[in-house]
Amino acid sequence: MNKAREVLASFKARFGTGASVYRAPGRVNLIGEHTDYNEGFVLPSAIGFSCWVGIAPRKDRKLVLYSGNLGEGREADLDNLGNRGSGHWSDYPIGVAWALQAAGYRLKGADLYISGDVPLGAGLSSSAAIEVSTGYALLSAAGHAIDRTKLALLCQRAENEFVGMRCGIMDQFVSCHGRAGHVLMIDCRSLEYRLLRLPPQLRLVICNTMVKHKLQAGGEYNVRRAECEEAVRKLSAALPQIRSLRDVSSEGLAQNRNLLSDTLYRRCRHIITENKRVQDVAELFEQGKVDGLRELMAASHESMRDDYEISCRELDVMVEIAGRQRGVYGARMTGGGFGGCTINFVDAEHAAEFQARVSAEYETAIGLRPDIYICEASQGAEHPDVATDLTCEIDGVAVNNVGNYRTESPLFNVTVPANNLFGIDGCPCTFGPSLDEGFYLMLAPLSSGEHTLHFHGSQPADLPFLYPTRIVPPR
Ligand code: GLA
Repeated sequence: MNKAREVLASFKARFGTGASVYRAPGRVNLIGEHTDYNEGFVLPSAIGFSCWVGIAPRKDRKLVLYSGNLGEGREADLDNLGNRGSGHWSDYPIGVAWALQAAGYRLKGADLYISGDVPLGAGLSSSAAIEVSTGYALLSAAGHAIDRTKLALLCQRAENEFVGMRCGIMDQFVSCHGRAGHVLMIDCRSLEYRLLRLPPQLRLVICNTMVKHKLQAGGEYNVRRAECEEAVRKLSAALPQIRSLRDVSSEGLAQNRNLLSDTLYRRCRHIITENKRVQDVAELFEQGKVDGLRELMAASHESMRDDYEISCRELDVMVEIAGRQRGVYGARMTGGGFGGCTINFVDAEHAAEFQARVSAEYETAIGLRPDIYICEASQGAEHPDVATDLTCEIDGVAVNNVGNYRTESPLFNVTVPANNLFGIDGCPCTFGPSLDEGFYLMLAPLSSGEHTLHFHGSQPADLPFLYPTRIVPPR
């Protein structure tokens, strides 16, 4: 059973109805750390670990959340979400609902089943995955079209203001825009991005140190961000045109070193040199080359260790061990820092050997067995096609696909030949404002037998035009 079907089955067991499913991935950043909130450049990929959300509308204005991972539920009232989290996992989905509504998207009450496989606290953005998957699900269930960049910005706002972690835009952006087989070169000022292919011989290998030293929301991360802001204020005395560290050159920094404490000077040096390294790595990938990659990755790690001071012993040891292995084209810590993972470029033919050796050597050195993942760059947030191989009849009309079916009548009967037909059975969903706007089905799993399907009103631009009194399968 694939993950989407598993989520549908768990949803049904929990809430007793069918649901629609949405997925959003975690990410790994290849290079460009802490540059995003300085309006610089980053080079992340979405990865195969994701958060999944099953959703079905409710008649009232409640969000009823259930975490499959924690086996724990929480309810929230859409008309009274507060504007600050409480340190609970539900801060993420509730914060997203808060940010969406604050931006003018009216949401509908819903049941949500949330389940993810992004390792928690490992620096692979389990938080962006839960935010984006819930945001996508809530917007879709309320009939709003998805603008991926807006969704990313609102998820970031939820994390900044509701959760209290002042993250940049990278994680949510790549979770929304990721593309299978590609890395994204993102300009975090303009939010323009280019899709680059990894040189074909490279594998992305992520090594999890299994430690996390700073667990509180934000913590040292927020301190780093505040230091960068302070440095910009101080440098502005001599460089009035700068808006962020993105605008400061190495020469500008050197000439105005006297305005900064040693700590602030080193923070700035990391950001300025890291931005240049991101551009250099992007250029290599554009040319399909790997020469110099190893040195750029090593310089990035050293800069984070010595200037930005966000590494830790376990990360340094992991990078050092990786650097000694065969077929390695570079290794560095990745993500916010203070524990979590390293990212390694490894020759495809040596990846398995790398995995085994690094695991053994790290365990000997640190006493913890690391998780090591050989990853693929994956697709961003999506509403997966749960099944495409079904045949059934709706009001006597044969349909042989699963998708959004439209009809003029708000209720009809369907004969289901087997398990796993998708549609909503007895689900208390609301109807569209008028028949002229048409209806489409929220799709969900049903057992075999006769079912009454309810239509959920909406008018997404991509649905086929409504033909009166006929069921129209998707194009
Ligand atoms: C965390 C944040 C990102 C980014 C990275 C560091 O993952 O969420 O916005 O700042 O740290 O590069």
